[in-house]
Amino acid sequence: MSGGTLIERRFNVMGRNAPLFYDRPVHLVRGEGVWVYDADGRRFLDAYNNVPHVGHCHPRVVEAIAQQAATLNLHTRYLHETVVDYAERLTSMFAEPLDTAMFTCSGTEANELALRMARFATGRAGVIVSDFSYHGNSATLGALTTCFPVVEQFPSFARTIKVPDPRVDSHGLDQDALADRYVGYVEDAVRSLQADGIGVAALLIDSFFANEGLPDPVPGYVAGAVRAVRGAGGVFICDEVQAGFGRTGDAMWGHELSGVVPDIVTLGKPMGNGHPLAGVIASNELVSDFQAASTYFNTFGGNPVSAAAGSAVLDVIEEQSLQDNARSVGTHVRRGLEKLKSEHTIIAGVRGRGLFFGLELIHPDGRPDPEVTKLLVNMMRERGVLLSRIGRHDNVLKMRPPMVFTVANADLLLSTLDDAFAAL
Ligand SMILES: Cc1ncc(COP(=O)(O)O)c(C=O)c1O
Repeated sequence: MSGGTLIERRFNVMGRNAPLFYDRPVHLVRGEGVWVYDADGRRFLDAYNNVPHVGHCHPRVVEAIAQQAATLNLHTRYLHETVVDYAERLTSMFAEPLDTAMFTCSGTEANELALRMARFATGRAGVIVSDFSYHGNSATLGALTTCFPVVEQFPSFARTIKVPDPRVDSHGLDQDALADRYVGYVEDAVRSLQADGIGVAALLIDSFFANEGLPDPVPGYVAGAVRAVRGAGGVFICDEVQAGFGRTGDAMWGHELSGVVPDIVTLGKPMGNGHPLAGVIASNELVSDFQAASTYFNTFGGNPVSAAAGSAVLDVIEEQSLQDNARSVGTHVRRGLEKLKSEHTIIAGVRGRGLFFGLELIHPDGRPDPEVTKLLVNMMRERGVLLSRIGRHDNVLKMRPPMVFTVANADLLLSTLDDAFAAL
C-alpha cells in the first residue's frame, strides 16, 4: 500500500478526475436500511441512493446472494431454474407483449442491446434522445449523451428533442397545446432523420426524465411522441433504469404513468440492490428474431447469483409493500417540500413523485442558482444527510432514497433541509 491520505491515493491510482461527491468527500464503510456509516462511525441518512432499492445490505438479498454463490455460479448457457423462475416472475410484471427477458450487467449494456434490437427490427439506424439525457457509457451511448461533457461528437444518426418541462415552457399554454408543441419537436426529429435518408429506429427516453431534472409530466406527450415514432416505423425504447421497480409509487414502471406500452424496456440500477444486474424486456418475437440473426452472449449477465439477488429484491418489494410505501411516504415528503417552498423564496419548484423528488432553486431574480444548490448539497452532507443535484442548470436538489424510507426519515430530511435553508 502506498503512502498518503485515502483521497491522495485515490487521485494517484484512479485519476484526479474520477467523480467524487462533496467538497469534503465521505468515506463510507457500512450500510443498513436507509443509513450509511463513515469510517469514524458517523451515521448519514441516505436520501440519494436508489441502487440499494430495498435498503442497504438487506439481509434477504445478502442471504440469497451468499446461498447461491455457495451453491453454483455460472454463465447462462446451461439450464438453471432460478434464472428461469426470475425471468418468468419479472416479465409477468409487464403488460403484453412484453413477455421476454434478456439479462445484462449494467444499464449501459441494456440500452446498447435495446438499440441493436431496434435497429435490427426496423432496418434503420436513427435514434432520438432528449437534449439533456444520459443512457450509458458505451461508445454509442456516450456519443448520444447530452447532459454532460463527452469526448465523442453527437452522432449524425441521432437527433435530440427538447426536454418537456412545463414549468419553464408553458407561457400560458394549456396542457394540450403544450403536449402538441413538444410532440411537434419529435415530428421534426423524425422528418429530419427521414430527409437525411437515415430513418427512425428508436425513440430512447427515460420514463421519468430523471437526469433531465424531473420535469412535471405533460399528459399526452409520451403517447404523441411514440405515435410519431411508430408512424415512421420506429420503436419506443423506454429507459426504466431510474424510475422502475415501484419508485414513483403510483406504478411499478414509469411508462405505466403515460399509458403507453413500450416496444422495449431497459432495466438496471435497483434491480439487484447493488449486485450488477440489468436487462431488456421485449416481446418474445422480437427477442427470438434478434437472437436468431445475431448471437447475443453476456458472460456475467443474469447468472444464477444475479437471478437470486433479483428474486430477493422482488420478494422484499412485495412483502414490505414498498411501492405503497413510496406512494405514501412520497406524498408526505411532497407536502413537506411544498411547505418549505412557501417558506424559502429560493425554492422555485417541487419536482418528482413517489420516492424520487427534487427542489428547483433560483436566484431572487429568477435565474437558476447552481452555486447555492451545490452549497446546499455540501451543507446537507455536513448535517448528516446525503443528496445530490441534477438538471440542465444543476439547480435541482435530487433526492431518491432507498424504498424503505419512512415518515420519520422523511421528517428528518425535511427538518434538515429547513435548517440548511435557514442557515444560507
Ligand atoms: C437513465 C439512465 N440510463 C442508463 C444508465 C446507465 O446505467 P449503468 O451505469 O448501470 O450502465 C444510467 C446511469 O446513471 C441512467 O441514469
